[in-house]
Amino acid sequence: MKDIEIKVQLREYESEQEMNSEDLSLLLKAREALSYSYSPYSNFKVGAAALLRNGEIILGSNQENASFPAGICAERSAIYNAAHQFKGIPLIKMAITVFTDDFEVSSPIAPCGVCRQVLLETELQQDQEIEIILQGSKGKIYTLSSARSLLPIYFFEKGLKKTN
Ligand code: THU
Repeated sequence: MKDIEIKVQLREYESEQEMNSEDLSLLLKAREALSYSYSPYSNFKVGAAALLRNGEIILGSNQENASFPAGICAERSAIYNAAHQFKGIPLIKMAITVFTDDFEVSSPIAPCGVCRQVLLETELQQDQEIEIILQGSKGKIYTLSSARSLLPIYFFEKGLKKTN
């Protein structure tokens, strides 16, 4: 028997002023994505911006539906949008932010479990880590160096792949 400790490291910035310009501009793009959110049921807008290795930035936002499970999160909307438009180009960084006028979100918001799983598989398939930038509507920013750091124990089995 042994105990295994898994460490997750993240970097915290007090404000945007401390960030490097590439991360900050991606975060601003994620804020821009908030305006495309369709979230009449939760009144909680989520915006995501994905930077690809070719320099393209693809936006995503949460899209809800009266049939609640039919909605999609901002992160997956950006990932699938990028996969569709730029198949095979690695996704190297994603910024995620939120806005609601119901309450103040002053701490970073992290992706849900389903989005972590999708980020993780994207990372494994492209063999390139995805840096993650998280902020609420204002305040502190967290950065993490990979999707795996958000989901250190994960479901992924190469044996599930179809043999061809
Ligand atoms: N949402 C996201 O877009 N990303 C997440 O990681 C968590 C939740 C959305 C889904 C729904 O439209 C709203 O936030 C409230 O749950």
